[in-house]
Amino acid sequence: MLTKKSSLVNTYEMFQKAQKGKYAIPAFNIHNLETLQVVVETAAELKSPVILAGTPGTISYCGPEFFVSMAETAASLHDIPIAIHLDHFESLEEVQRCVEAGFTSCMIDASHDPFEENVRIVKEVVEYAHSKGVTVEAELGRLGGIEDDLVVDEKDAKFTNPAQALEFVERTGLNSLAVAIGTAHGLYKGEPNLDFDRLAEINERVDVPLVLHGASDVPVEAVQRAIDLGVCKVNVATDLKIPFANAVKTYFNENPDANDPRKYLSPAKEAMKEVVAEKIRMCRSEGKA
Ligand code: 13P
Repeated sequence: MLTKKSSLVNTYEMFQKAQKGKYAIPAFNIHNLETLQVVVETAAELKSPVILAGTPGTISYCGPEFFVSMAETAASLHDIPIAIHLDHFESLEEVQRCVEAGFTSCMIDASHDPFEENVRIVKEVVEYAHSKGVTVEAELGRLGGIEDDLVVDEKDAKFTNPAQALEFVERTGLNSLAVAIGTAHGLYKGEPNLDFDRLAEINERVDVPLVLHGASDVPVEAVQRAIDLGVCKVNVATDLKIPFANAVKTYFNENPDANDPRKYLSPAKEAMKEVVAEKIRMCRSEGKA
């Protein structure tokens, strides 16, 4: 019989350790069994704690129960801390449905709302989530770019105000704060220009772990500088999707008559694995499980 190696955890303890050790937990957006396997197997090989994230689009694609049971199986096979996290959820009801299915961590994103409304919505989710042992991330300021169905024009992006960040953290009771300091979801037109002074100021004022969204296509040195300034969670989606999709395209170009998913998905998994390993090393979370 199989001995269970571990169970899913929330992000509380992993963030505490990351904060002390000056590294970050990589949070990878996964979309199906194959991408989940690549992330967990690579994290286990490198002995890194890991967060598996699903957007509302992913959860409606695979259903929260399938996501949870795949992750539970992964946790039972590997002895590393694994949290499953709802990424950019916008309503308490949707969070509740997924927490009931077994999610251990969530982001409630009301960053598009005015400050008072953002506070009210986050507080409501924090009260519910904490009663279930689930950790909560929220965003202040607004990231530009494209993430699934969430499209924010550059002109609507707004940097986090450090003074407001303290008030936001104190009034909501959240566990981690997503900051807008110049990253964007998806690929960048030029070199991303991060506002490290702002990040340093936020980090001086608040003591909760900070979260960097939109880490794809950002140079390693910039992400590591952000980690040195209090970032404990680094979100990566696009940089994993691209090698996966490219490998499938190459496979079909070379094998136009192919039809076996095991054949065309295997090179995609291999290509994605390399990037997952690079991102874990970038976060300095290797060996921290
Ligand atoms: P990227 O797609 O830019 O990596 O952003 C991921 C993200 O921030 C998930 O919330």
